[in-house]
Amino acid sequence: MSTLLRVDSSPLKGDASFSRQLTAEFVQHWQASHPGGRIITRDLVATTLPPVSAEWIGAAYSPAASRTQPQQEILAISDELIAELEAADEYVFGVAMHNFSIPSVLKLWIDQVVRVGKTFSYENGVIAGRLRDKKATFLVASGGVYEPGTPAAGMNFVEPYLRPVFGTIGARDTSFINAGGTAQVRFGVNRDTILQPALQSIRTQLQQAQVA
Ligand SMILES: Cc1cc2nc3c(=O)[nH]c(=O)nc-3n(C[C@H](O)[C@H](O)[C@H](O)COP(=O)(O)O)c2cc1C
Repeated sequence: MSTLLRVDSSPLKGDASFSRQLTAEFVQHWQASHPGGRIITRDLVATTLPPVSAEWIGAAYSPAASRTQPQQEILAISDELIAELEAADEYVFGVAMHNFSIPSVLKLWIDQVVRVGKTFSYENGVIAGRLRDKKATFLVASGGVYEPGTPAAGMNFVEPYLRPVFGTIGARDTSFINAGGTAQVRFGVNRDTILQPALQSIRTQLQQAQVA
């Protein structure tokens, strides 16, 4: 039985958020192609994620067997989030572009899950990710358009940032589906028209995965 981890990061709720609408569609199609599959849902806006502190670093870099009770407590949310990554075979992320990059809650999540001895280790001085054979799909909604060849293409820091982060933890099979131009709704463009190419890409990707 396959397991999909769905992670949302937009502060907007429900259909007000383009990226949440895309993750919902992805889950719906994934369920249709994975009967009996399990979904783990993690809404980062509904999760309290503390920033990394000196205490957190001290706990993460202490051997597990010698961690004090407060150190174990400080790592509890990190352990919980990593357990979700380990339990799932596949991940889908809804990403709202904020200031050319990812929402701050997604950065807080990354800082909790990229953890030495848990999701990566050093082998002969080289980083080795431990979450191998996991596939990650990122559904990115942005007000502007950043497709290759457009004037703003070089200002999209979402993909160049997320690829090496997930590479670090071993999830090298990543794909990005962009829903650019969501700001056009303010000028009367139909929401479904904006989302159509991304929705089609989601359907195509899941169909291809089924055939493979
Ligand atoms: C705080 C904030 C920062 C944003 N920064 C950018 C940006 O740098 N570039 C861009 O194209 N759109 C930007 N936008 C627009 C969002 O990317 C757009 O509304 C997108 O649909 C967000 O995804 P969501 O609908 O799932 O929340 C920003 C929106 C907010 C609220």
